[in-house]
Amino acid sequence: MTRSLLRPFAILMICGLAGVAQAAGNPDAGKTKFATCAGCHAIPGYTNVYPTYHVPRLGGQKAEYIVTALKAYQAGERTHPTMHANAFQLSEQDMQDIAAYLASFESAAAPYPVQGDVAAGKAKNTACVACHGADGNGNVPIYPRLAGQHEDYLRTVLQHYQSGKRKNPIMSGMAKPLSKQDIADLAAYYASQPKGLVTVQQE
Ligand code: HEC
Ligand code: HEC
Repeated sequence: MTRSLLRPFAILMICGLAGVAQAAGNPDAGKTKFATCAGCHAIPGYTNVYPTYHVPRLGGQKAEYIVTALKAYQAGERTHPTMHANAFQLSEQDMQDIAAYLASFESAAAPYPVQGDVAAGKAKNTACVACHGADGNGNVPIYPRLAGQHEDYLRTVLQHYQSGKRKNPIMSGMAKPLSKQDIADLAAYYASQPKGLVTVQQE
């Protein structure tokens, strides 16, 4: 019984791994292709114009998630005119290369300072742990790393999931019951976690 249930799962796992290996990106090519992105994503503290929030940190983000996000902008499922324009011309290989480059960054040496209540956020993150990890550095490839992300970006996207501006069946459900205070606390918690994302530095 257990074995027959496990077998299809094992096959799925193998196919999944083979898929990843086949489509693996080249980080050196990705570095070159990221040049057009650097004007926003490789400048510490750079902000989106309106509404104003920090452009997300991408260094150390998971490759699978980067590709998913770029495809969502490309398809217009995730609405942001600038990112749509930037993702629009990317081929599958471009996305894989850029994702491999971004994922290759080492995590932040020290945690970032935050404004909100980290202890309150830690007490509220039970519902998030299964996918994002207790410290926002979970190891499931499709779930984004949250540790070290900009606090105001995390707040903004959680509000976008609530309002429906950003659509994702899982995260819409997760964000729905959160109060404004919950969002502020959770954003502070994840943003403050060590070994997190970094701003890309291109020499
Ligand atoms: C003009 C500034 C600008 C440029 C240029 C730009 N981006 Fe972005 N990027 C943003 C902003 C602002 C966001 C957040 C948008 C949102 O709220 O969804 C973003 C979001 C992203 C995200 C989603 C991150 C996450 O955590 O979900 C990825 C991935 C990304 N950009 C990759 C790229 C790549 C690759 C390029 C170049 C091909 C690029 N960006 C060029 C401003 C820019
Ligand atoms: C069942 C798995 C699951 C759970 C539980 C979950 N998430 Fe997520 N989360 C996801 C997925 C999948 C995405 C990417 C969705 C997308 O592409 O928009 C995501 C995206 C996010 C993002 C956007 C990150 C970015 O870089 O743009 C934030 C912030 C976030 N989750 C916070 C939370 C918080 C806070 C909780 C707990 C209240 C939580 N999540 C619970 C699966 C989950």
